[in-house]
Amino acid sequence: MSNIGSYDERIKNFDWNIAEKELDYEPGNPINIGWYCSDRICEKGFGNKPALIWEGSAGNEKRYTYNDLRLNSNAVGQFLRDLGIRPEERVCLFMDKIPELYIGFLGILKMGGIAQPLFSAFGDESLFVRLDNAQTTAIITQKKHAPKVRKIMDKMPYLKHMIIVDADPSKPLADREVAFDMEQAEKPEKFTIHPTYAESPSVLHYTSGTTGQPKGVKHVHYSLISQYLTSKWVLDLQESDIYWCTADPGWVTGTSYGIIGAFSNGVTQCVLDAGFSADNWYRFIEKHKITMWYSAPTAIRSLMKAGDEVIKKYDLSSLRHLASVGEPLNSEAVIWSEKVFGKPFLDTYWQTETGSMMITNFPGMKIKPGSMGKPFPGITATVIDSETFEPFGEPGKIGLIAIKPGWPSMMRTYWRNEETYQKKFKNGWYLPGDRSSIDKEGYFWFVGRDDDVINTGGHLVSPFEVESALLEHPAVAESAVVAKPDFVNMEVVKAFVTLKPGFVGSKDLDLEIMNFVRKKLSPLAMPQEIEFIDSLPKTRSGKIMRRILHAKEWGEEIGDTSTLEND
Ligand code: WTA
Repeated sequence: MSNIGSYDERIKNFDWNIAEKELDYEPGNPINIGWYCSDRICEKGFGNKPALIWEGSAGNEKRYTYNDLRLNSNAVGQFLRDLGIRPEERVCLFMDKIPELYIGFLGILKMGGIAQPLFSAFGDESLFVRLDNAQTTAIITQKKHAPKVRKIMDKMPYLKHMIIVDADPSKPLADREVAFDMEQAEKPEKFTIHPTYAESPSVLHYTSGTTGQPKGVKHVHYSLISQYLTSKWVLDLQESDIYWCTADPGWVTGTSYGIIGAFSNGVTQCVLDAGFSADNWYRFIEKHKITMWYSAPTAIRSLMKAGDEVIKKYDLSSLRHLASVGEPLNSEAVIWSEKVFGKPFLDTYWQTETGSMMITNFPGMKIKPGSMGKPFPGITATVIDSETFEPFGEPGKIGLIAIKPGWPSMMRTYWRNEETYQKKFKNGWYLPGDRSSIDKEGYFWFVGRDDDVINTGGHLVSPFEVESALLEHPAVAESAVVAKPDFVNMEVVKAFVTLKPGFVGSKDLDLEIMNFVRKKLSPLAMPQEIEFIDSLPKTRSGKIMRRILHAKEWGEEIGDTSTLEND
């Protein structure tokens, strides 16, 4: 029997206090995610249960029980407190998927800090804009990523500490640098958890928009209510589960479901800190007897591409439930997974801002391959007209996804950008910025984003950020960045570039510009293709019309070009 039981029964008289009661949370009392994810599980008698089984790229393994999670996060919390870091100051986690990342996250929350996870492949420019916006006090990192921080240290007087978790004891550290070895650190048995409350800030995740700098999505400790219950009902986490969430905590799936949802439900979770290969992934499932697997369409398509033969080499019979997030999950992928794993991947739809799943397929529900499913109980979602902002009265029409605000894990604002936050609401609805239709039975069918943000392999990339980085290259005069179709990643970054006088497009220049962006931003943001052109399509007011270039890439109708400059 699945945890959710009957969806239709659950949506009747749903109240978030179901989760509050299960967590013994009384409104008005303190609530701290770090405590719920470690101390509370120990108090319930599961201190010796494995919480985290970590495997590195060399196959090396580390194991932590819930009691280890509790003691090690106490050590992190104590260390930060002793450094003088105060509640609500931002502490950035800038690490590969190593245990210090998962446990550090809990430690920051326990001492009342705001955890700011950033993807460790970010280059110095991507890092700087996010630390600068958050005015981050401390960054926890590994020695291999420290040079990227050192490069921008002078521009960040507010950054008081760079904490290195694997510093070489024989090498002296620079000013503002400090070593912290979690294994060796003293682990206080008693640590006074900072009394955070429902509305106390917890996590600051950065997400990319079409224009402007990345936005810092502010979440609060009360988000636990949504993250706990969606993990329980959609991921169907049960006491005996061995769970694997493939997402990196630099992105929201890796924190909401790779840390908070998993540990608050007290399951054993496995983490693989290694690059993707079909063999390695299947081996990992076999070795750890993974039962619940939460992944992303790009990974599933990569596995499909690797073929069915490789699957036969492994015993994957432990798998009992699969789910996916981040991009449209095409029906072929659902049908394929049913064929090869005997189970469909259940699609779930949500975003950084919503903090937890909004529209999903549920265990036991009729699955329509290609559909995102139905709203989670307690979530009122519909599709509205993009001009009147009124819901359509009939099924089948494509419009903007609209959600009634008020669920526990909704973002509370964009950090230092309340104006943009307010713009996300229209006519009493929160608009995630995606388009969909709803069929007669209430299933949502994703159509596309309503902006120019590129979703490459489930990671959002802002064309604006890539264009800004391109303009810093000495050869580039102007640029326009759009998505280009790709089988595995769904979309990849493509740049149209005009060159400054004296420069000529060539393969070498192409590679040089690509690398320039990769180093500054990240491998994800690096254009996979650069097309040198003589001029970019612009409106009469001089604005570059990405829409035209996008349509060309996707073989679509160009639409209204009445404002085009060279008409
Ligand atoms: C897209 C990731 C189609 C969507 C959790 C959304 C999806 C953005 C799905 C959020 C899905 C996410 N089907 N598209 N199941 N899930 N998206 O903030 O455009 O990194 O707004 O959060 O990814 O991406 P974010």
